[in-house]
Amino acid sequence: MIKAAHLVKKFGSSTAVNSISFDVKEGENLILLGTSGCGKTTTLRMVNRLTEPDSGTIFLNGTDIRSQQPETLRRGIGYVLQNHGLFPHYTVAENIAIVPRLLKWESSKTGKRADELFEKLNLDPAIKDKYPAALSGGQQQRVGLARSLMVNPPVLLMDEPFGALDNLTRISIRKEFRVLDELVKKTIIMVTHDVQEAFEMGDRICLMDKGEIMQIGTPEDLLFRPANNFVANFLDEQRLQLELKSVLLEEILPGSAKNISVWDQMESLLQVNAYPDDAPGDALTIESLMAAFSKYKKR
Ligand SMILES: Nc1ncnc2c1ncn2[C@@H]1O[C@H](COP(=O)(O)OP(=O)(O)O)[C@@H](O)[C@H]1O
Ligand SMILES: [Mg+2]
Repeated sequence: MIKAAHLVKKFGSSTAVNSISFDVKEGENLILLGTSGCGKTTTLRMVNRLTEPDSGTIFLNGTDIRSQQPETLRRGIGYVLQNHGLFPHYTVAENIAIVPRLLKWESSKTGKRADELFEKLNLDPAIKDKYPAALSGGQQQRVGLARSLMVNPPVLLMDEPFGALDNLTRISIRKEFRVLDELVKKTIIMVTHDVQEAFEMGDRICLMDKGEIMQIGTPEDLLFRPANNFVANFLDEQRLQLELKSVLLEEILPGSAKNISVWDQMESLLQVNAYPDDAPGDALTIESLMAAFSKYKKR
């Protein structure tokens, strides 16, 4: 769906992005991960032509993105900016109507779509007449996402979408977004410096350093098959949690529920353990889960 080939971007004498290449398949969630200044935002902005590369090419569905007007291109690509990016002097309703207005949507159509997204994103319709400054961080982030989804673009670019939120809000919004039907089917490139976030949200992760790709692969590839010392060291501090998040339950206990990580299973066990009377007699325990996980790692 998206193919970036040998992107280079210099600012003056410093090279922000140095020959980056990657593919994103339809419906996939690719994470650009790395410390501040490694070139993630610059890479993302090249995909919707907010930044033009010095060299290299990006193809969207096989077509060079330079063959389209940037404005036309951007209508098919939702963009969630770092720190929500809402216009402060526009109300929430005005903010989310920007792209529909460009596309000359009837106001009733815009209103209906907004209502639908507000419901899915757990936003109170009463905030529509408020200005962004009157909203909580979590609400601002949800409105920023609603705005990017209004015209249902097939591709979504998200730059540190949870960066401005406190830890607990971030973790719960992340969980919600992961299962949101509007996002599940989209092709997404998301930027983050948060390793846990990358592992929770990404189908594949592109770990960058100083404008270059250190490794691109599934969370399991990076964890269990690091391409070099940089990758291994980058993940070392959080390794155990990352392993628990990236290994699926059915990998360590064949025949169990698909698509739930060992970590998610642990979290739900902790809830069950808080109400032990509700647990079936032969229920999985944290102990049996950890034993199976250790066995899996030694395989
Ligand atoms: N418009 C710009 N002008 C000059 N330097 C820039 C500009 N945008 C980014 N840079 C520089 O390019 C490098 C990569 O920046 P950026 O892509 O924003 O990194 P990240 O998003 O990973 O934190 C940094 O050194 C940054 O200072
Ligand atoms: Mg950035």
